[in-house]
Amino acid sequence: VEQRLAPNRQVVLRERPVGIPQAEHFEIVEAPVRGPGDGEIVVRVEFLSVDPAMRGWVNAAANYSEPVGLGEVMRSFAVGVVEDSRAAGLAAGDRVVGMFGWQEWATVPASAVSRVVREPDLPASLALGVLGLNGATAWFGLTEVARPRPGDTVVVSTAAGSVGSVVGQLARLAGCRTVGITSGPVKTSLCRDEFGYAAAVDYRSPAFESDLRAACPDGVDVYFDNTAGAISDAVLGLINTRARIAVCGTASVPTWDPPPTGPRVERYLLTKRARMEGFVYFDFEHRLAEAVSRLAPLVRTGALRYREDVLDGLESAPDAIAGLYRGENLGKRVIRLRAGGQG
Ligand SMILES: NC(=O)c1ccc[n+]([C@@H]2O[C@H](COP(=O)([O-])OP(=O)(O)OC[C@H]3O[C@@H](n4cnc5c(N)ncnc54)[C@H](OP(=O)(O)O)[C@@H]3O)[C@@H](O)[C@H]2O)c1
Repeated sequence: VEQRLAPNRQVVLRERPVGIPQAEHFEIVEAPVRGPGDGEIVVRVEFLSVDPAMRGWVNAAANYSEPVGLGEVMRSFAVGVVEDSRAAGLAAGDRVVGMFGWQEWATVPASAVSRVVREPDLPASLALGVLGLNGATAWFGLTEVARPRPGDTVVVSTAAGSVGSVVGQLARLAGCRTVGITSGPVKTSLCRDEFGYAAAVDYRSPAFESDLRAACPDGVDVYFDNTAGAISDAVLGLINTRARIAVCGTASVPTWDPPPTGPRVERYLLTKRARMEGFVYFDFEHRLAEAVSRLAPLVRTGALRYREDVLDGLESAPDAIAGLYRGENLGKRVIRLRAGGQG
């Protein structure tokens, strides 16, 4: 009860950004924790997620969901423990992951829950990353959209990041030769040494295009695209006949209003009879448990490695998305809240 009376600190959207949301677009406010209504649960949040997609959730243009309203709690995935439940099938003590928003306590309908976390032997934060949005995006994007075959050359952008690192490792486990694209010497080394890429290329280097060509002597069969922009322009010039391009993200494009211009893709697709297909995690969310059942055993044996970039306290949230677009994260970015929700 005492905990229930603790104020709930929340990060709300103060101003709608054009492009990448910055710290000044958010504000931290306090509100009382509300008890659960019928069909609702109260979650004490342990970790908040920070995802590049959150840029799209606050922008009005080129989006796949209703943008977060001004004054509303910032939409986000989070993991935490049910403190009180009036929802069938969810009990106090259950650890759950879902759309709980950037706040310390979340009173939400049961439908906000993506999954009850049933891996007590693994860190809770993994439910947001390698066993959550990022892992499932990599799993379904690779196996159902990109569909690599053994021996394929698979190129991955944001290769050291939370989605990209899983894609690269899964493709290698499927018998492919993997080439990662990322920024700087630390992340290119990480790609080769930790995530098993056969080669890793720095897109900020002036020699990027020739480095990429040298890294793909047999051309590119699969491109898992997390960036769009000039990086993709370089990859498209190297695709093989019947190449498959899974469009997962557009991290290199600061705004779609106005849209960027660049080389047209149609001629590459036509001459190479290639397939380019976008997808969104939410199309597959109902199959999250299936992805976790494939990924968790690989994490346990060490066959699938992951990195986390852990920030502390709710205060670190407002600047956290901008930080992703500065490329400062080394692995899945999460925010740890102090036990009891006092952040
Ligand atoms: N389709 C879906 O449903 C879905 C779901 C989850 C994620 N995604 C997408 O997957 C991509 C990776 O997401 P994540 O969660 O795994 O994040 P992440 O890779 O862990 O972090 C984002 C990374 O984006 C890269 N980046 C930032 N600005 C860039 C720029 N201007 N040009 C090129 N790269 C830039 C940085 O890595 P570098 O140092 O390598 O530049 C940064 O570390 C994003 O595009 C995201 O939107 C899509």
